[in-house]
Amino acid sequence: MGWFNSSSHHLVLIVTVVLSLYQFSLVSGIFFERVHVYVLNELEPGKTLSLHCKSKDDDLGMQQIIFNQTYEWSFHNNFFGRTLFWCFMSWEKSLGVYASGSFNIYEGSRDQFRCRKRCWWKIKEDGLFSLNRDSFIWEHLYDWP
Ligand SMILES: *[C@@H]1O[C@H](CO)[C@@H](O)[C@H](O)[C@H]1NC(C)=O
Repeated sequence: MGWFNSSSHHLVLIVTVVLSLYQFSLVSGIFFERVHVYVLNELEPGKTLSLHCKSKDDDLGMQQIIFNQTYEWSFHNNFFGRTLFWCFMSWEKSLGVYASGSFNIYEGSRDQFRCRKRCWWKIKEDGLFSLNRDSFIWEHLYDWP
């Protein structure tokens, strides 16, 4: 009886240690992993995309992305689902007529499992498409307002 008790205590201890190590590696993976975002201009030949992305702590500045060019940045996902990058985008639809809007391009709660460490966007004339890395489907997440 005494042997059984101490052996089951050991088992409980081992299971607890294994579970907490497992949990720690999951949590640290989410805390410290670097996330890359790629934004590809797929408007149409000759159309330039103006892009200005920000988070609470970062201002990536105004960028001019020519057709078929990818703009990329990366960051550490600091808090559980708390990271947010939004981008103001604008392009000339026809002479002097601009389409523009502000969009959430990385939202931890939406994207940390949907696109994991690499978030791909295609910016097209009919809207913004983001690759879901589970289904490999380009999801049409936003329209131009
Ligand atoms: C876009 O760029 C890729 C290489 O990055 C190239 O293979 C492709 O032909 C280009 N497409 C157009 C339409 O320019």
